[in-house]
Amino acid sequence: MEKLVVRGKRKISGVIKISGSKNATLPILAASILNKNKIEINRVPIVKDVLTMVELLKHIGSNIKLDFKKKRILIHNKNRILKTTAPYNLLKTMRAGVIILGPLLSRFKKAKVSLPGGCAIGSRPVDIHLFVLKKLGAKIKIKNGYIIAKTTKGLIGKKIKLPSVSVGATENAIIAASYAKGTTYLSNCACEPEIKDLTNFLKKMGIKINWIGERKIKISGKQNLKSVNHKVMFDRIESGTFIIAGALIGNKLKISGIEPKILKKEISILKKMGVKIKVNKSDLIIFKSNKIKPAYIKTEPYPGFPTDLQAQIMVLMTKANGVSKIKENIFEKRFMHVPELNRMGAKIKIFGDTSFIYGPQQLNGAEVMATDLRASVSLVLAGLSAGDKTIVNRVYHLDRGYEKLETKLRNCKANIFRKN
Ligand code: UD1
Repeated sequence: MEKLVVRGKRKISGVIKISGSKNATLPILAASILNKNKIEINRVPIVKDVLTMVELLKHIGSNIKLDFKKKRILIHNKNRILKTTAPYNLLKTMRAGVIILGPLLSRFKKAKVSLPGGCAIGSRPVDIHLFVLKKLGAKIKIKNGYIIAKTTKGLIGKKIKLPSVSVGATENAIIAASYAKGTTYLSNCACEPEIKDLTNFLKKMGIKINWIGERKIKISGKQNLKSVNHKVMFDRIESGTFIIAGALIGNKLKISGIEPKILKKEISILKKMGVKIKVNKSDLIIFKSNKIKPAYIKTEPYPGFPTDLQAQIMVLMTKANGVSKIKENIFEKRFMHVPELNRMGAKIKIFGDTSFIYGPQQLNGAEVMATDLRASVSLVLAGLSAGDKTIVNRVYHLDRGYEKLETKLRNCKANIFRKN
């Protein structure tokens, strides 16, 4: 099994170019199911979850080609009838696969998609996904671990208020409503920038979509869609991860290919913690930070601080002069990295949904185990700032969402290698 070997305490400097967003690419690929005409998607991140989604689309019969070098996906499904079943073996490693439920159901009037099941960070229910699809007219039952959905007349637009904010359920609803008859009004939507990227993609295909409030959207469904060419937005979480790496051990580290205004919350918290950041139009520079101040953060849906950066900022908090606090509001089991960070010399205590980080602590290298995607990268960050050698096991978690992480870091003088 592959592992990462990190030797810490090396200053990193240079330029890191950010990849396309994984969390925008996945729903965009799901939305491709609606269109028979040519689709070209650029700046696709070559990460495991995207490859799994491509496999899933191939499995249902989509004519999809991924050019690894150009990071481009071409899809053309003229006259193709797609299969409407998404099996367990393709969804078990990537829970986001459930977003193909809405488009399959909307276009083919039936879909059978494996229930995603639990994962290290929590139970990952799909009740909100099913709630919106039922409101749009679907009949849904759960049998043998599968969601079986059908509609005799096709989905029909409606006014729907989501019971609570969910990224995946908002995406499923938006894509399904885009092909439904009539107009749908969705309220209490998630408004992550990746969802805006999805709605931009759908607009280019000819669907009338308007954000009519921060969490409100109006969609007029359409069945004959145009060819589309789209460049995926930058990866917000990859950017935040490298900004934190810069704060930990950077000495003039530039993060390029981003829109800093989308990272407003993260930048303002890091600045308050004493991190020196110069923000430009499409990049930012992190300078050597001497004194890190403690902070209190709570994870929230966008525009709040993202749960996907919680584990990474916790590593920075181990360096702060005082006690920091993190309240995790999104997932119930998202402190799995804490025992591993404590093994490396951190002093972190968990009380329910809140962690207290007692700093400053000098971290020491250790052999550690990754438990999920963002937890694994936090261990890499800890390793980069630790005294000696750190071995991060189970890096397959990391490969689900980070494109060439160790190459990007090595290009900036970090000492990090992959071993079998
Ligand atoms: C997406 C992101 C993930 C990020 C998360 C929160 C993708 C591919 N993944 O995941 O990286 O961590 O948003 O920003 O974009 N919930 C329910 N019922 C549902 C759906 C969700 O109770 O039907 C709960 C979840 O258990 C969780 C919360 O709602 O507690 C938020 O989950 P959600 O926003 O749906 O996350 P994902 O779309 O799974």
